[in-house]
Amino acid sequence: MDTFSQFGDILIGAIFVIHSGFVFQPPTFQEEPKPVSCMGFHIRYYRDVLGLMFAVDEINNSPELLPNISLGFRLLDSCMSELRAVGGVLSLLTGLGNPFPGYDCHTSSVMVGIVGEQLSALSIPIARILGALHYPQTIGAIRLAKRSRCVRGHDADVPLPLPSGLISHGATLSALSNKINFPTFFRTMPSNFFQNIALIQLIGRFGWTWVGMLVVDNDVGQQGAQVIQAGIESNGGCVAFLEKIHLRYSIKQIKKVVNVIKGSSINVIVLLSPEVHVRDLLDVMFDDGVNGKIFITSASFIFTPGLFSKKAWKVLNGTVGLVASTPSIPGFEQFLLNLHPNASSRYPFIRLFWEKAFNCHWPIEYPNGEKLTTHIIKEDVTCTGEEGLGSEVSQLFETNDLSLTYHAYLAVYAYAHALHSLLNCPTVSKGYFSHGVCANINDAKPWKVLRYLKKTNFHTKSGEVMKFNSEGDLPALYDIMNVQILHDSFNLVKVGRIDPEAKLGEKISLNVSAILWSDHFIQVPVSVCSDSCRPGYRKVPLQGRPICCYDCVPCSEGEMTNHTDADECAICPTDQWSNEERDRCVPKVIEFLSYNEPLGIVLVIMVVMLSILTFCILIIFIKNQDTPIIKATNRELSYILLVSLILCFLCCLVFIGQPSTFSCILRQTFFSVAFSISISSVLAKTIMVILAFKATSPNSPLRKWLGPAIPRNVVGLCLVFQMSICSIWLYKSPPFPALNTQNYKITFECNEGQKVFFYATLAFMGFLAMVSFFVAFLARNLPGSFNEAKLITFSMLVFCSVWISFIPAYLSTSGKYTVAVQIFTILASSAGLLGCIFLPKCYIILLRPERNNRDFLSGKRKKKDLIN
Ligand SMILES: *[C@@H]1O[C@H](CO)[C@@H](O)[C@H](O)[C@H]1NC(C)=O
Ligand SMILES: *[C@@H]1O[C@H](CO)[C@@H](O)[C@H](O)[C@H]1NC(C)=O
Ligand SMILES: *[C@@H]1O[C@H](CO)[C@@H](O)[C@H](O)[C@H]1NC(C)=O
Ligand SMILES: *[C@@H]1O[C@H](CO)[C@@H](O)[C@H](O)[C@H]1NC(C)=O
Repeated sequence: MDTFSQFGDILIGAIFVIHSGFVFQPPTFQEEPKPVSCMGFHIRYYRDVLGLMFAVDEINNSPELLPNISLGFRLLDSCMSELRAVGGVLSLLTGLGNPFPGYDCHTSSVMVGIVGEQLSALSIPIARILGALHYPQTIGAIRLAKRSRCVRGHDADVPLPLPSGLISHGATLSALSNKINFPTFFRTMPSNFFQNIALIQLIGRFGWTWVGMLVVDNDVGQQGAQVIQAGIESNGGCVAFLEKIHLRYSIKQIKKVVNVIKGSSINVIVLLSPEVHVRDLLDVMFDDGVNGKIFITSASFIFTPGLFSKKAWKVLNGTVGLVASTPSIPGFEQFLLNLHPNASSRYPFIRLFWEKAFNCHWPIEYPNGEKLTTHIIKEDVTCTGEEGLGSEVSQLFETNDLSLTYHAYLAVYAYAHALHSLLNCPTVSKGYFSHGVCANINDAKPWKVLRYLKKTNFHTKSGEVMKFNSEGDLPALYDIMNVQILHDSFNLVKVGRIDPEAKLGEKISLNVSAILWSDHFIQVPVSVCSDSCRPGYRKVPLQGRPICCYDCVPCSEGEMTNHTDADECAICPTDQWSNEERDRCVPKVIEFLSYNEPLGIVLVIMVVMLSILTFCILIIFIKNQDTPIIKATNRELSYILLVSLILCFLCCLVFIGQPSTFSCILRQTFFSVAFSISISSVLAKTIMVILAFKATSPNSPLRKWLGPAIPRNVVGLCLVFQMSICSIWLYKSPPFPALNTQNYKITFECNEGQKVFFYATLAFMGFLAMVSFFVAFLARNLPGSFNEAKLITFSMLVFCSVWISFIPAYLSTSGKYTVAVQIFTILASSAGLLGCIFLPKCYIILLRPERNNRDFLSGKRKKKDLIN
């Protein structure tokens, strides 16, 4: 495994990503496995190595920090491959080209710790190995390589040199903060613990409840996806899809992912993946026309435009992402300008960089035997070494965003300060070593450096205090960045900031108007499964879909919602009802049959006219009281009947208008008393008719009954009976005015108290009516041209049918219409009596006075009359 070393008294190991990919053939186990080979040299990643070198240079030139001690480093390129990273760390520990665990083959200088790895996925195995080696272990089975320089690691007296710190400059996975699993792990990049919360809050802030997720296909992506998905769901959002992506995916697998994105209605994709894994995906998305999706990226995604094609840029347009806050490194650009590939150059990979930067290639063979990895150059331009970096340096190295490079730089400083404290001859009481002996360079063992690393506390050049917390992390401070592709240039614009140390409301500061979304969205994009429900509607989940997908259905009557996206409609209070839009409760209309409304007016007019008519008939009867027709029909009863009918009509007026205690009592009692008088008069009339005909012979014993006693008794008896029912009713439970609120309106009505009394009065009247009817029916065939019995039969028939039809009408109407039905029934039945019994007589009295004589009435003139 190729390593690159710069020698010094003390070495720092470094595992960096320099190539953005690797080629790995799965072993067939039929031949010796081939090593993982690297491909895709990328300047942005190479820049991190230069940051490390810059820090080493600064420290070596510094008179304060580690004077008289030179720092060196040993570098390995992981190429984003776990296999290479694990192999690399073993090889670094051993100091050999090949990894021999348990042996230290460093010649003169000791390696005190390792800086790296940028990717969490690769940091985990490295940290596990370094953590595991924290404890002495016996390695007997591994044969010592035939190199006498190598010292056996585990000797009785010599402490094992292997335990070693690891400071990562890029790994953000929060699980790495667990000091039981990763005791020697530190990082200068913030843990993503707060980043995940911040991402969830950001998504919530924009109101996105329907998002897709793309995560890297490894443990890191898996864990991040779980946290973010749970967060989105606890915010009431849903994840439409969760797809995995990795740089080793075939184009077929990538197409499948793109089809999922294409088939979904989301506008926002949360991207939890280092940038290299999505490179091909973005190209395929562009080719398939899947654009207009906004990516929200985590801090593990590095915005390095050089890695992506122009097609991918377009797809990334509008992306909003988190970047660990990074100050500038003074002097770094000058350092970059001095890069030169001359023969004595001490920079690793400098020729490769030159080829990439100037798009040329070196002659294949070099004097020192350096061989280039697969790096395809189209134009056949030979590099001369005379090319100048000049003004292109900032664009080439993307120095506007020094993230990771700065963190690698900081990691070197952390080691230097720890070493400095170790070697700086601490006071006896505070010192690590007893006997008051100062530590010398031979004491710079990794496990001792670790102790000082934990306590390190220094100021960076930009003035920040650097101090690892108990978990080996630095405080998280993020910038919110927005990708804006304008006129073919890739701009990264800072639009906000996340500071977990800030007060609750100020943790996220964001200038939304500064964000340029892609050209599909003028405003903040909307990413929801269903549009929100207006007030007055409630959500109904769709069967088999996530909770964010729903239908909106209007609230039912009497229920309302006054806010959007209601899950339930609220029931209005009993005295209120929902309005037409169902977004408010309005007081119910109080309703009763009033004199002001058309129905009331019509009824009043009918009452008045019928009363006047009855009164006129009464006048006619009184005027003609001595004519035969009136004499023949029991004058006294007729007057009683007419007066009671007038009362029946007039009692309707009590039913109209706002109910009061008085009018409620009056209504039913007045009505039942007036009606029982009329019906009992009819009954008495019928009885008298029968008696009159039965007693025609002068000797009949019935004649003595023909006096006024019978009708008076019948009427009086009925009256007394009905009045006693009413008295008990009024005594036991008198009717009272009440509000009936069952419905969309409040009906102001009379509650009849105990209904049994109401029905008893009705039943008594019904009984009287039936008796009258039967008696009249039996007498219907009695002779006489003017047959009273027939008329009574007919009137009772009308009366009964009106009241029988009243019952269903009464039960099936509500509110004021119940009252109207009762009034109408009273009017109709009374008018029936009036019409059937009295109108024929009025007809004869007024229009056919010639018939108004005894002969005609007793039927003797009938035939003759007809012949004439
Ligand atoms: C460094 O070396 C110089 C010269 O060799 C010596 O004078 C000085 O005391 C040394 N400094 C330390 C801190 O050892
Ligand atoms: C937000 O961004 C807009 C557009 O870039 C700018 O005009 C405005 O001043 C910014 N507001 C704040 C508070 O930074
Ligand atoms: C990127 O989005 C901005 C803002 O909507 C737009 O003006 C620009 O044209 C887009 N760039 C590309 C390459 O589509
Ligand atoms: C919505 O209705 C509730 C309960 O009736 C009330 O407390 C609240 O003020 C109303 N909100 C609006 C915006 O009308």
